[in-house]
Amino acid sequence: MRPALSDYQHLASGKVRELYRVDSGHLLFVASDRISAYDYILDSAIPDKGRVLTAMSVFFFGHVDSPNHLAGPPDDERIPAEVLGRALVVEQLEMLPVEAVARGYLTGSGLIDYQKTGAVCGIALPPGLTEASRFPEPLFTPASKAELGQHDENITFDDVIDLVGATRAEQLRERTLQTYRQGAEHALTKGIILADTKFEFGVDGAGELKLADEVFTPDSSRYWRAADYVEGVVQNSFDKQFVRNWLTGPESGWDRSADVAPPALPAEIVEATRARYIEAYERISGLRFDDWIGVSA
Ligand SMILES: Nc1ncnc2c1ncn2[C@@H]1O[C@H](COP(=O)(O)OP(=O)(O)OP(=O)(O)O)[C@@H](O)[C@H]1O
Ligand SMILES: [Mg+2]
Repeated sequence: MRPALSDYQHLASGKVRELYRVDSGHLLFVASDRISAYDYILDSAIPDKGRVLTAMSVFFFGHVDSPNHLAGPPDDERIPAEVLGRALVVEQLEMLPVEAVARGYLTGSGLIDYQKTGAVCGIALPPGLTEASRFPEPLFTPASKAELGQHDENITFDDVIDLVGATRAEQLRERTLQTYRQGAEHALTKGIILADTKFEFGVDGAGELKLADEVFTPDSSRYWRAADYVEGVVQNSFDKQFVRNWLTGPESGWDRSADVAPPALPAEIVEATRARYIEAYERISGLRFDDWIGVSA
C-alpha cells in the first residue's frame, strides 16, 4: 500500500516543486506542472510537464558520473500514487549556496556581462564574441542563489571560495564542468545543443558532494536545435518559444514593461508547449514518454 501525499509533512514550495518530509534523511521531491516565463509563474499549467522534468532528470542522473541525490527508483513504494511519475525520493542534503552554472555558448546574462566587461563571471574572454558564440572550452559561471522574486546574480570564482571554501569551490567547478560535458555530448548526438545549464549541488552527512535538484531539464538548461544553430542571433528555445512568442506577440495584450503578471495561455499554446517538452524528452532519452511511470496507467 502506497502512502497518501497527506501522510507526509509539507516542508517547502519552490517555484516549480513541492518538498515533503519522508523521514529524517529523505525528502519527497514533487515536480508540479507550473511553468515560468519572463520571471513570472504563469497562471496556466502545462499538463505532464512535471512528469517530463522528472523523467528527464532520472535519465540524465543515470547518464553522468556524478553521485546524486536519488534515494530510490522512480516507482519507489514510498511515492504516493497521486504523484507517481512526478515525484522522487531523494536524500536530504545541505545545499550549497551557489548555482553551479556551466556555459558552452555565450548568451543571456553571460552575454550582458561580456558586453560590459569583456569577461563572464570574471573569466576574461577574447574580443569579437557575439550572441550564441561557442566557447573554445565550457566555462564555470557561478551565480548566487537569489531570494524569491530576485534575479540570480553572476559571481566570480573568488566569491565561490568565500561562500564554500577553496577545496569545495575547486571540486564544484570540476564536477560542474565534467557533468555539463557529459550531458551536452549526449544531447548533441540527438541533435540538441545544451547551450548552458544550472546545477544545484549539496553535501551529504559524510561530506560527499552530490548532484541534487533537477538535471538538464529545459527549465534548468537552454535547449537549442543543433540543425537551426546560427552564431550571431538569439536562438529559439526548443520548448518555451511558443509561450514567449505568444506572450510578447500582439494577441496576448500583455505589456511586458508594465510590471503586471502575464495573462493565461490559450489552450493551443499550452498543447504545443506540452508536445515540445515531450518531444525533447523522447529525442534525448530515446525512450517513449508513454512508457514513463504513471503516464498511460
Ligand atoms: N537533495 C536536496 N536536499 C534539499 N533540498 C534540495 C535538494 N534538491 C533540491 N533541493 C531544493 O529544492 C528546491 C526545489 O524547488 P524548485 O525546483 O521549485 O526551485 P526554486 O529554487 O524555487 O527555483 P529555481 O529552480 O528556478 O531556482 C530548491 O530550493 C532546491 O535548492
Ligand atoms: Mg529549482
